[in-house]
Amino acid sequence: MSETYYITTPIYYASGDLHIGHSYTTLAADAIARYKRLRGYEVFFLTGTDEHGLKIQRKAESVGLSPKEFVDGIVAKIKDLWRVLDITYDGFIRTTDDEHKRTVQWIFNKLYENQDIYKKNYESWYCVGCESFYTETQARSFPGMVCPDHGKPLERVQEESYFFRLSKYADRLLKHIEENPDFIQPVSRRNEVVQFIKMGLEDLCISRTSFSWGIPVPFDPGSVVYVWIDALTNYISAIGYPFDMERFGKWWPADVHLIGKEILRFHAVIWPILLMALDLPLPKQVFAHGWLNLGGKKMSKTMGNVVDPVELVRRYSLDAIRYFVLREVPFGADGDYTEEALVARINSDLANDLGNLVYRTLTMVRKFSKTRVPAPGREEPVDREFKERCLGLKKAVEEEMDHLRISSALERIMDVVGRANKYIDEVSPWDLAKTGDPRLGTTLYYLCECLRIAASVLRPFMVNTPSAIWNSLGMPEPIENYSWDSAGEWGLLEPGQITKRGKPLFPRIEIEDREPAGEKEQAAEEKASKEVLQVAEDKTQETGAKVTDSKTAPAAEDREETGLITIDQFRQVQLRIAEVLAAEKVKGADKLLKLTVNLGDEERQIVAGIAQHYDPQDLVGKQIVIAYNLKPAVIRGVESKGMLLAAKDDETLSILTVDRKVKNGSPVS
Ligand code: MSP
Repeated sequence: MSETYYITTPIYYASGDLHIGHSYTTLAADAIARYKRLRGYEVFFLTGTDEHGLKIQRKAESVGLSPKEFVDGIVAKIKDLWRVLDITYDGFIRTTDDEHKRTVQWIFNKLYENQDIYKKNYESWYCVGCESFYTETQARSFPGMVCPDHGKPLERVQEESYFFRLSKYADRLLKHIEENPDFIQPVSRRNEVVQFIKMGLEDLCISRTSFSWGIPVPFDPGSVVYVWIDALTNYISAIGYPFDMERFGKWWPADVHLIGKEILRFHAVIWPILLMALDLPLPKQVFAHGWLNLGGKKMSKTMGNVVDPVELVRRYSLDAIRYFVLREVPFGADGDYTEEALVARINSDLANDLGNLVYRTLTMVRKFSKTRVPAPGREEPVDREFKERCLGLKKAVEEEMDHLRISSALERIMDVVGRANKYIDEVSPWDLAKTGDPRLGTTLYYLCECLRIAASVLRPFMVNTPSAIWNSLGMPEPIENYSWDSAGEWGLLEPGQITKRGKPLFPRIEIEDREPAGEKEQAAEEKASKEVLQVAEDKTQETGAKVTDSKTAPAAEDREETGLITIDQFRQVQLRIAEVLAAEKVKGADKLLKLTVNLGDEERQIVAGIAQHYDPQDLVGKQIVIAYNLKPAVIRGVESKGMLLAAKDDETLSILTVDRKVKNGSPVS
């Protein structure tokens, strides 16, 4: 019987569309699951959705749907996304599944019977976005008492809740972490958790009465189970606990829970303690990876800085996106997403290195060997060294992947691809062809073998490219019929088999309006300050919310042709609601007003060319819309951070305001 491997992703909130940040975890889990299957493990790869809670209840209400109708729609879209990304999950758990609800209620009863939970009156700060409570000290550490992740003011809540005795298990957990160095990875994260536990654990609120969209507490139906206990339980309810203990025993303990670093404490403190209270073994590992950032901040829907994975796949191909996401950032660290980095990665690694190697090799086989794989002949030291490199690749990939170093595994593969390109230059097969040297056969055969091995070890990461390379080598059977270990063998290509050179695998991406990095930055800066100045000076520009970030602007010709931008380009502009606290004329400038505005957690000064249309005092108290992430500019000696939006016809200028009051700083989307 083969060994089992159980890997999970977080269950994603069914509150909106997922972005490339969520896809990052799922793609990483998918690569690991594919790798383990290839290594012969029986794998259970679980993902799913977290569907209860106040945030989702409110969202559903805001669009006039019942919570269940609302989450059903979101879940269908999430499953579509996983189809687009070719995610090979084996289980998809929804916290609204009946079996899951049954498990959660069973656990609640059990904890109550064991006196691990008790009821008390509770008052605390709460962020609906995080679905988390914050102590007085934590809340006061956030500027303006506004959640730094969601930009929303914390809410004060008071209610009767059930509490779980976390503190009771703190010492046991510390001991477990010490004795199992692999339990929390990477190591830096383990230290963070140990410090947190040593500071003392407070008992945890695990039920709520102020909303109804959740799993009812079995013996107190006025209370619902608070999201985190509901959510974490998915990892065991999905495999049968406690009603199908045979199935549960097959998979538990999980080999790895893959998560983003912001939910580490839930997974490395609350979850293990809950399992201890249930007398269950702990997962073997919790691996917290870093964030994909955009513009230096965690990509997040609430902050409005997200990138749509479906759009990326449409533009650049699935394998290019899978490769980029898995290769770009060392697994565990944070990384910045930029379209420049994406295009550079595709061009350098996939077009120049891998694509080119395939194309060059097959062109030479076509030209010098009538498309047939030649028989190897004489071998020189450089050939032998190259062959050894290729043969060592499988092991090198295993060493990285066994420690979940996904990016490094891809780096190892690309090292060999790079070596192969260099080998061609060193050996000059065309010179060998000129003299009819039989070593030509050796070189071409070795290059074809290199491609076969590379295709084979690329299987965990890419989904179409490995078989495309495989088929172009004229292999007699599909790649699926070959084991992982075959990548560690030499000589599987039969001399004489017919190769097919197809189209280049990854055509180079040319972005016509890209300037060299330094110049581009400068140009963008000049452009930004020019625009703000124009707003002040040029009547026709007073209202302009021009979206001209050169980073993602379409090629000039495209814009001229269609006038259209993509949704990603639009999303680069962050619009926010600001309340005018004060307004005054700018000395020496007839058209300019200086506004002081409140954005929830910060105050800013904005200069706007609206003095001929508004009396300053009429603006105070109005909620206006501002372009939030515009580079600051100095206008007539006054600094302006952002730009207000206004509409204008021939005579009238009218600033944009909101239809009903919202919290200052709210994103406009
Ligand atoms: N529902 C909880 C998780 C419960 S698990 C028992 C939740 N959901 S979430 O929808 O907010 O997803 C969070 C996870 O998505 C992160 O832990 C991470 O895996 C992934 N990511 C979301 N944004 C991300 C980035 N910008 N970068 C990397 N991963 C990101 O929290």
